[in-house]
Amino acid sequence: MAKVRIYQLAKELGMENAELLEILNEMGVSYKSHASTLEDETAQAVKEIIAEQRGLEEQRRREEEAKRAEEARKALPHRPPVVVIMGHVDHGKTSLLDYLRKSRIAEREAGGITQHVGAFEVKTKGGTVVFIDTPGHEAFTSIRQRGARVADIAVIVIAADDGIMPQTKEAIAHAKAAGAKIIFAANKMDLPQANLDKVYQDLMREQFVPEAYGGDAIVVPISAKTGQGVADLLDMILLVAELEDLRADPEAEPKGVILEARVDKQAGVLASMLVQEGTFRVGDYLVAGEVWGKIRAMRDSDDNQRKEAPPGSAVQVLGFSELPHAGEVVHWVPDQVAAKEIAEERILERKDREAGAETGLRARNIADLL
Ligand code: GTP
Ligand code: MG
Repeated sequence: MAKVRIYQLAKELGMENAELLEILNEMGVSYKSHASTLEDETAQAVKEIIAEQRGLEEQRRREEEAKRAEEARKALPHRPPVVVIMGHVDHGKTSLLDYLRKSRIAEREAGGITQHVGAFEVKTKGGTVVFIDTPGHEAFTSIRQRGARVADIAVIVIAADDGIMPQTKEAIAHAKAAGAKIIFAANKMDLPQANLDKVYQDLMREQFVPEAYGGDAIVVPISAKTGQGVADLLDMILLVAELEDLRADPEAEPKGVILEARVDKQAGVLASMLVQEGTFRVGDYLVAGEVWGKIRAMRDSDDNQRKEAPPGSAVQVLGFSELPHAGEVVHWVPDQVAAKEIAEERILERKDREAGAETGLRARNIADLL
């Protein structure tokens, strides 16, 4: 390789001559001026030093950026944890949700009407917990298939008279894949045949070491029937949530996820939405997948009309043009023009994809025939 002059190398490295001369001084390289030539090895060594310096600078810059982002996050208000209840058939998912819902109704003076909005809140002294109202895997899976992250925590119900069953394992796999923290609820502890040790041993076989055995898997014994242990379960959920340090920006551009949707003969499309970021307001335009809407009204699970829905609230939204899919991410958009255009774009994109897939399929069939 040809020898290189100092000023040429400086230019190549995008630095001032003086800077490079200083490095050469530090390296103990002698030269006459910036027009002097450098040996190949010297030039190479200089390049390595510069690369290392720049790498360090870049790393420092990235660390600083991460620190700033973390500081900004720390300045945001906390949001309630969102919890999904999963488990094997008949292990008590619905009973637990019912118990939580009922105890919540009993707490309120008025009692009575509760609206089905896909999720409900349980308020405790330690804070609020949002429970997704649909037990079972389907809702969770369909939501996850659309790439939305909904639940922060999965409570996996295991009947203590039965132990871990196939769908318990499925639930564990789903929760893990979704990145949700897992809390096990050993249910039906009121039954004489309940065997907490068997639940522990079953968990060990799934690589979860219960706290009782010196591990860190959280297992709360409960009875969804009598309510025994349910308060402990709520405490544990709030503890895990605190460690997760869940926060959301109520001022950010609003974002949420569709929990479920149905058509009401009178009202039209009713969609349950969990707000994850920002604050949705009546009159806002939104897009959920290929469907757009304008929020005409919102209702919470206490059947109250809501003008605003901040992060962590689950509301029933009136005003979608068509039925959105469960699990679809909901984005705020500035106006009707944007809403319609984005929805139409997505429909076209899907049709293109489908047409593409079909052509591919046909081509393959023809290829098969040849
Ligand atoms: P699927 O929706 O079919 O998967 O069942 P699930 O997990 O929702 O169970 P569900 O709440 O329907 O409970 C199944 C049966 O167990 C019902 O007969 C409940 O009454 C009973 N059960 C649920 N929890 C308890 C409990 O803590 N103690 C007792 N003794 N029975 C319970
Ligand atoms: Mg059920």
